[in-house]
Amino acid sequence: MKVGFALVLLWSLPITNVLAELPQPQNLTLLTLNTQYVLTWDWDQTTTGNSVSFTVEYMAKYKMKMKKNWSRVCERTTRTRCDLTGSNLRYLGVYVLRVQASADGVNSDWVNKDFCPHKNASLGPPSRVEMAPVGNLLNVTISDPLTSTQHSMKEHVFYLDYRILYWSRFDDPQGLKPKVLDSSNNLVTLPELEAWTWYCVMIQSRYDYYNKTSSYTEPQCMQTEGDTPYGQIFLYFLVSMMVCFLLVLLSSYAFFRFYRVLKNTFYPSIQLPAHIQEYLCDSSPGSDMPRLLTADSEAELCCHKLTICSEVVLLEIHVLPPLTAPPSELGQDSDRHICQDSGDSGICSTEGGSTQQGRSCGEPIRTDQEVDSWQTLAQAKMEEMGRDVIS
Ligand SMILES: *[C@@H]1O[C@H](CO)[C@@H](O)[C@H](O)[C@H]1NC(C)=O
Ligand SMILES: *[C@@H]1O[C@H](CO)[C@@H](O)[C@H](O)[C@H]1NC(C)=O
Ligand SMILES: *[C@@H]1O[C@H](CO)[C@@H](O)[C@H](O)[C@H]1NC(C)=O
Ligand SMILES: *[C@@H]1O[C@H](CO)[C@@H](O)[C@H](O)[C@H]1NC(C)=O
Ligand SMILES: *[C@@H]1O[C@H](CO)[C@@H](O)[C@H](O)[C@H]1NC(C)=O
Repeated sequence: MKVGFALVLLWSLPITNVLAELPQPQNLTLLTLNTQYVLTWDWDQTTTGNSVSFTVEYMAKYKMKMKKNWSRVCERTTRTRCDLTGSNLRYLGVYVLRVQASADGVNSDWVNKDFCPHKNASLGPPSRVEMAPVGNLLNVTISDPLTSTQHSMKEHVFYLDYRILYWSRFDDPQGLKPKVLDSSNNLVTLPELEAWTWYCVMIQSRYDYYNKTSSYTEPQCMQTEGDTPYGQIFLYFLVSMMVCFLLVLLSSYAFFRFYRVLKNTFYPSIQLPAHIQEYLCDSSPGSDMPRLLTADSEAELCCHKLTICSEVVLLEIHVLPPLTAPPSELGQDSDRHICQDSGDSGICSTEGGSTQQGRSCGEPIRTDQEVDSWQTLAQAKMEEMGRDVIS
């Protein structure tokens, strides 16, 4: 009986060894992001065929000693990964995960892995970053990382910080030497920026309690504005344009008026008579301006140059010829005192040649007292001759 029991034991040992032959999954790893958890493991395909499948279960760690049932997540999956996201693991809970391989009705041993999301799960970057220029500064609005149910990760972690890297795209196009700003606020105003400059921003989430840092967001760039917004600048532009236009209009009008005055002054449409112009130029060589109202003495001088006497002289010339043949009584003296048309000047002259200026030749010429007698004689003769001519 003892021998038989021993034989059965010996017979059964190889069977259990065969059953235990299937190797365990190796290198259990959790790929995590916020509240998304994916368990992966390695499996050497050369040990079995393609028929291997895996089962994944989990249990809260504190239930382990209470002999509770395991919660099954993935059953007989052929993939080497299992998504635990939908299992609603509590973020602050501590869990034990386990994986078993199965092939040809043979199961491997379970492989356990402790998992605490709060401690092990990685943190994601901000879900969204928005930038808005406020004058020459930039407001950066940071949206929290989100859970798998689209809630803020701040529901799970005690606090959340953001590290903001920013740099001027003009000074540092590659962002090699960015400025660093840490903030726990979701609305951050970047300080000390220049107006009308492009700035780029990358933001990282941080959870210092477990030294968790996320990846950085993709660089986002935005241009700062000046102290005055676009609308005002446009208004100023319009106003200055209008002022310029008015100035040009006014100045061209003024120039046109000035040009006309100049033209009328120097090139008048009504020209002065040529002899007056000549006089104007001669009388006042110092100035170009007409001087009709000045230089009274010169105006008097002008008077004696006028040839008012010429007609009278002509009359005398017409009348005189009979006198040129003087009566015998006159004698030779008559030649010297005659009022003769000496050249074109029409100036009366005596024998001495002293011209008597400023007197019309029509008046009787009084040279000497002794001439008077001759003159009356001559005048009487002239009247007599004139009467003869008229008749
Ligand atoms: C598990 O990881 C180690 C180190 O990374 C590696 O050498 C080994 O091949 C992995 N196991 C499998 C089954 O891939
Ligand atoms: C545990 O599993 C057994 C058998 O699979 C089942 O009868 C029992 O109800 C389960 N217990 C709980 C608490 O799920
Ligand atoms: C979680 O962290 C604990 C302690 O550091 C470690 O033992 C465990 O392997 C980690 N789990 C995962 C899935 O990385
Ligand atoms: C910009 O951020 C500051 C705080 O940093 C806030 O007071 C201000 O209202 C914000 N402006 C806009 C336009 O969002
Ligand atoms: C976090 O990292 C710092 C240095 O990087 C270290 O001194 C500290 O102990 C770490 N804390 C934890 C909880 O890992």
